[in-house]
Amino acid sequence: MERGYFKSKQLTRDYHTFCPNPLRMLDVMVARRSWRKYREGKISAALETQLKNFIKTSSNLRGCTEKELLLVTGKKQLPGIFEAAYKGFSGKINPWLRKSGTAGLLAMAIHKRPRHEERPTAYAFPSMVVQDTVLWLTEKGMGTVWLAGLNGDEMAKVLGLPFDQWVPAMIVFGETGRSPSGINLDNMIYKSISRKRKPLQEIVYRDRYGQAFDIPEIMSQRLQVNSSVSVTESLEYLSGWKKKKKARSPSQLEWEILAESARISPSAANKQQWKFILIQEKALLRDLRGLLKERRTLGGIIACIGMTSLPLLERGLERPFWMIDLPIAISSITLMAGALDFLARVYVDEIPEQQVNSLLQLESDWRTVGLVGLR
Ligand SMILES: Cc1cc2nc3c(=O)[nH]c(=O)nc-3n(C[C@H](O)[C@H](O)[C@H](O)COP(=O)(O)O)c2cc1C
Repeated sequence: MERGYFKSKQLTRDYHTFCPNPLRMLDVMVARRSWRKYREGKISAALETQLKNFIKTSSNLRGCTEKELLLVTGKKQLPGIFEAAYKGFSGKINPWLRKSGTAGLLAMAIHKRPRHEERPTAYAFPSMVVQDTVLWLTEKGMGTVWLAGLNGDEMAKVLGLPFDQWVPAMIVFGETGRSPSGINLDNMIYKSISRKRKPLQEIVYRDRYGQAFDIPEIMSQRLQVNSSVSVTESLEYLSGWKKKKKARSPSQLEWEILAESARISPSAANKQQWKFILIQEKALLRDLRGLLKERRTLGGIIACIGMTSLPLLERGLERPFWMIDLPIAISSITLMAGALDFLARVYVDEIPEQQVNSLLQLESDWRTVGLVGLR
C-alpha cells in the first residue's frame, strides 16, 4: 500500500492496540473497497509481470489451471470486452463500466456445466485466486471491483473461449483517487451500500451453528506476529502445508481477526449471506479430521457456510453466489492465517457435505462451502 492506508471499514475493536507493530494484512483488507471510477491509464510492464507471477502462484495453491483465469490489460481490447459484457439484461447493472478508465481485468473462465450442478465447486477455486489478486492489487495501491453483472456468454465469445465455457464473474482494476469524494455514482454506492457490514456476533458462531461467539473485554493480550507479512509472502507460506509444525489453536484475538477478515470481504450486492463457525472443541475437531481424512493435527477449523435459498425474484439467476462469495471470504481468512503464522488448508471437494452439515447442526438453507484447517 504504497499510497498510504485508507480505512474503508469499521472493525469490531481496534486490533492494532494489541500488536506491537501494525498488522499489514489487516490494513490491506480494511483499505480494500470496490471502486467504480478509475484514472485513465495503463499498468506498467514491471507491475504486469509481477501480477502474472502472482496469479500463477495463487493458481497453484488454490488448485486452478491457468486457463481458468484470463488477464487482459490491452487498452485496445478492453472496450470490445466491456461492450460484450454490457449486452443483454445482466450487463446493464454496470452502465459505468465502459467509461470507467480501468487498466485491466481478470476474468474467471469456466465450463458451463456447473451452472446447473447441485454443488458447483468449480466456481470456488478461481474465485479464491481472483480474491487473492484483489488483495495483492490493493497492497500495490490499486483499486478493484468484483463484477458479476455482465453477459458471461458474450464475453466468452469475444475472449475466444471454447463454446462450452463462460465468464461468470471478473474483477476490473486501475489507478484510483485517494478516497471517495464528490457527487458521483462511485461515492454514492460506497456510502449507501458497500461500506456496511453485519456485526461480528451475527455472522460468527462457536463450534456449532447457533452457538454464540462471545467478544469479551480484553485488557492485556498481546499479539506476537510478524506484522509485515505481504500478500505474496503469506501465500507462499501457505504453500508449505506439509511442513513440520506443532499445531496450535488461535487465541481469542486471533479467532476474531480471522473472522474479521471474512466479515470485511466483498460479497455480491453486499448481501453477506454467510456465517463462520470457529471450531476448537477437541472432539469435534477429531470427528471433522476423520471425515476429511486429514492426518495432521489441527489446532482449529473454520467452517464457512452459505445461505443457498434465494428470494423469489432472484431464483433462476445463473450464478451460484454462495459458491463465489464464501470462497472469497476463504481467500481472506487463509491469507490472514498465513500472516498470523498459521498454516491453513482449504477443504472444498473433500467435504462429505451431509455429514459435516449435520455434525455442525446447520439449519436447512445453510450449507458448508468450505472448511479451513489451521495448525
Ligand atoms: C461476486 C460479486 C459480484 C459483484 N458484482 C458487482 C457488480 O456487478 N456491480 C457492482 O457495482 N459491484 C459488484 N460487486 C461488488 C459488491 O457490490 C461489493 O463488494 C459490496 O457492496 C461490498 O462493498 P466493498 O467491496 O466496497 O466492501 C460484486 C461483488 C462480488 C463479490
